[in-house]
Amino acid sequence: MREITNALLDWYDIHARVMPWRVMPADKKAGKRPDPYAVWLSEVMLQQTTVAAVRAYHEKFTTLWPTVADLAVAADAEVMAAWAGLGYYARARNLLKCARAVVQEHAGVFPRSYEELIQLPGIGPYTAAAISAIVFDEASTVLDGNVERVMARVYDDHTPLPAAKPVFMEYAQRHTSKKRPGDYAQAIMDLGATVCTPKKPACGICPIRTECDGLGAGTQLELPKKTPKKPKPTRTGIAYIARRADGAWLLETRPEKGLLGGMLGWPTTEWGDDPMDASPHSTDWAELNEHARHTFTHFHLILRVQTAWLPIDAAPSRGHFIPADAFDTTALPTVMQKAYTLAAATLRHI
Ligand code: ADE
Repeated sequence: MREITNALLDWYDIHARVMPWRVMPADKKAGKRPDPYAVWLSEVMLQQTTVAAVRAYHEKFTTLWPTVADLAVAADAEVMAAWAGLGYYARARNLLKCARAVVQEHAGVFPRSYEELIQLPGIGPYTAAAISAIVFDEASTVLDGNVERVMARVYDDHTPLPAAKPVFMEYAQRHTSKKRPGDYAQAIMDLGATVCTPKKPACGICPIRTECDGLGAGTQLELPKKTPKKPKPTRTGIAYIARRADGAWLLETRPEKGLLGGMLGWPTTEWGDDPMDASPHSTDWAELNEHARHTFTHFHLILRVQTAWLPIDAAPSRGHFIPADAFDTTALPTVMQKAYTLAAATLRHI
């Protein structure tokens, strides 16, 4: 058996990254416990997103809503606006559902076990393992992209992802600490994020380099192997950016289902090969020369942008006007902010 667990824990005692929601190993040994709400929020935010990007959002959320009970009674639109820019907006919709379930079904107290946590909306195997380990020191095994990379290299296993996931899970389970599961989970994720990095791993300073078959074979840079992804298709849409004569902006809350569901944005056509006009008001729309470009998980989007000024008594078929002084671009998802940036110059004067 490889001696990985203790080597990682010893390394973590010295090198644990400081994070606002994290209880550092020395404080933990002194009896301090992590806040389940803060850790849950961090783990949901950290899926597909870097620690650097998450910090400011985590701070904003815990300031606006200090407890899960506060979040549970927040207005949907306010939570979606606060999430704007983080992407993968289903996470924000599920975050609210989860907060409400914790309040309604668990009296506002997060359940402790993997089995109960995974029943909650938006909590999958990774998040349930992370919370039960980090907050409650249950010996759950976390397997995120960092841990997969570390396991592929330690075992010099060339099985391609995603097929290799169950194999890497089995490796990861072998090393999960029974004495310090929470610190161990965070240690291996920190190692993957800071030492065993995808492109330039710092093998010279790695605490488990003597256990690493990939390093021995010189294959570490090739691992983990990945099954090639299908190329992403490109879709096109049109965004309609309109201002009323008093300066108010025409915005629309997108339907709950689907991409950007529940987010505020410019009215748009459907996104497809050749979008059909779907303007929210009949007027002379002027199309900008430049398009907003954005990449989603499964496709690239080219968003054409059309602008118009509307009369003070305009009654558009969709959307609602937001007064100029209440309009906040940071409440929009990134693709809608990009479209705004292109249109702003032509819609400046009122
Ligand atoms: N990435 C996601 N969750 C993490 C955690 N708890 N520690 C370190 N890196 C992480």
